[in-house]
Amino acid sequence: MRTNGMLIAIDGTAGTGKSSVGKAVAAKLGYGFLSTGEMYRALAYKVFEKHIEPEDHDAVLEAARQLRFTFARQPDAALKMYVDGEYLGDKLRLEEVGNVASRVSTNGEARRVLTDKMRAVGEDGGIVMEGRDVGTVVFPDAEIKFYLDASAEERAKRRVNQLKEAGQHADYGQILKMIEERDWRDSHRAVSPLKPADDAVVIDTSNLNLQQVTDAVLEKIQHYAS
Ligand code: DC
Repeated sequence: MRTNGMLIAIDGTAGTGKSSVGKAVAAKLGYGFLSTGEMYRALAYKVFEKHIEPEDHDAVLEAARQLRFTFARQPDAALKMYVDGEYLGDKLRLEEVGNVASRVSTNGEARRVLTDKMRAVGEDGGIVMEGRDVGTVVFPDAEIKFYLDASAEERAKRRVNQLKEAGQHADYGQILKMIEERDWRDSHRAVSPLKPADDAVVIDTSNLNLQQVTDAVLEKIQHYAS
């Protein structure tokens, strides 16, 4: 066991509730919660801000090297992320930032730079880490690994509801197309493609609500720990 407890990996496609489930599980266990996608989104944000082409390999790598992350544990278990001393908050949640994140995340060398930063945060355990390759690449030795999936249609529906609740415009057809494109890119990239680790517990969340997924995850963890 690590100094502060287990390293729990939750990977899967976008919009499967990984973050909400991960946060709920971490709070229950008294662990920290880190979304590694936020780190790719931070890189995307900087790339966008600096007018770098997401496919410009060397410039994206340099931007990744320059990123300085610091984290502050929140009462709800989440690790609040500061990028070069600044909290970027909702700016990272924009669809455009997500799309650039998916493009810069095909850069293998930039991935290695971010992966090292993730390892530094998680190596002592006591953390739930959510992403795409936490169980396969970042921490292949994670104590327990989950892979959440759901149909693209169900995920698009959930995203539309989220946006509507936030008072934003949402077009189902456009969102479905973006989800399908992002899935394709995430699972076909040469480096660390999105796929379940061989030893991951796979959960299809299409017909489950958040509480049911959280309960299923906690049950497996208790089983592992006993
Ligand atoms: O989970 P998210 O939507 O915030 O992630 C944004 C993008 O970052 C996603 O399209 C793929 C990339 N990503 C990745 O390649 N590896 C991770 N561990 C996490 C995210």
